[in-house]
Amino acid sequence: MFSTPFVLSFALLLSLPLLFLLAPRILPPRPLPISLPDELDDLSLFRRASLSSISRSTGNGNGGGVSHLATSTKTPLPKIAFLFLTNSDLVFQPLWEDFFEGGGGRRDKQKHLYNIYVHADPTVVYSNPVVPVGSVFENRFIAAKRTQRASPTLISAARRLLATALLDDDQNSFFALVSQHCVPLHSFRFVYHSLFASQPAESSIGLGFGYGSTRYDHQIKYKSFIEIIADEPNLPERYKARGEKVMLPEIPFDEFRVGSQFFILTRRHSLLVIKDRKLWRKFRLPCLNTESCYPEEHYFPTLLSMKDPKGCTHFTLMRVNWTNSTGGHPHTYHPAEVSPQLIYKLRVSNSSSYSYLFARKFSPECLAPLTEIAHSVIFRD
Ligand SMILES: *[C@@H]1O[C@H](CO)[C@@H](O)[C@H](O)[C@H]1NC(C)=O
Ligand SMILES: *[C@@H]1O[C@H](CO)[C@@H](O)[C@H](O)[C@H]1NC(C)=O
Ligand SMILES: *[C@@H]1O[C@H](CO)[C@@H](O)[C@H](O)[C@H]1NC(C)=O
Repeated sequence: MFSTPFVLSFALLLSLPLLFLLAPRILPPRPLPISLPDELDDLSLFRRASLSSISRSTGNGNGGGVSHLATSTKTPLPKIAFLFLTNSDLVFQPLWEDFFEGGGGRRDKQKHLYNIYVHADPTVVYSNPVVPVGSVFENRFIAAKRTQRASPTLISAARRLLATALLDDDQNSFFALVSQHCVPLHSFRFVYHSLFASQPAESSIGLGFGYGSTRYDHQIKYKSFIEIIADEPNLPERYKARGEKVMLPEIPFDEFRVGSQFFILTRRHSLLVIKDRKLWRKFRLPCLNTESCYPEEHYFPTLLSMKDPKGCTHFTLMRVNWTNSTGGHPHTYHPAEVSPQLIYKLRVSNSSSYSYLFARKFSPECLAPLTEIAHSVIFRD
């Protein structure tokens, strides 16, 4: 005979694991950091961008892609899409203006080689006017949504920029994500040549034709410049930021990566990123531990490392100084530190084959000293 208290406690004990199992289903889920309407809005933009790429690559669109290359004798030159992700004033706008305009009468020649897109958090108050009349940034602001640190909103904003640039111009071939704290370390001409002369692994122009499932693969000769790191000490903590096993089964720990928040992607990879649903379903979840939550530093490197590791250089062209970083922010340069020597130092990478093209972060007060050395140092290669 069992006594009632014994049966009772036994039943309780049995139900404990059941409770753990069911709790996540019974308790209301934590709200997603991105609302359903915003998510649907993004999805429709991404779908439009990927559909338009498909129709172009099969020759039904208005040119572009391989069909364009094949039928036109005078192929328009490929462009770099500069994607500015900002949540405060574009303080270095005058410096960037100089960068894009070139000097020595290059303005007209260069304006066909780039496009600018700005995603400016609409909940922030900017100085008025946001950019001067006649600026290269004028009318380059895209439909933007609120962004917030330690949340997947920065991933969404970057994907919105990629999708808008994909849709906007077939000639956009590299997509460079930068922030308002970034500055150029070289002239536009140098940047353009570095990217388009960047080394094609083993393939050459033409080899990509007919390779893979789309005909868009002339892009295959270029690689994306994105840092992809597998052995970072904080990785286990970052992996568990949304809960112990939440990332499974889509993202096993040994496929989880970290890299710089800013990168330069090829058109092929930009398309891959906006088409992704599988990893996004995990990365859009809220972090339990916001101290270890930097979704944008993981989403892009992890996705590209899983889908096309050989198509990426695994390094970034954006110089960042992590010495003595505080609260997840890198060292921010102040006016007293700005000098020609600093620019020369920041350009140098550990590789003999590439030079850093951009750097961050600079405090807004650095605009004056940087402008002073713009033509004599920064834009002189
Ligand atoms: C990086 O930042 C540290 C301060 O945290 C500074 O002492 C150092 O000179 C900086 N390095 C470069 C290359 O600017
Ligand atoms: C980094 O910070 C430590 C302690 O605050 C300081 O002693 C050291 O000099 C700093 N290093 C640099 C390069 O600024
Ligand atoms: C170059 O490599 C050294 C040693 O690995 C490292 O300490 C340094 O930070 C690297 N410099 C850059 C610019 O990446």
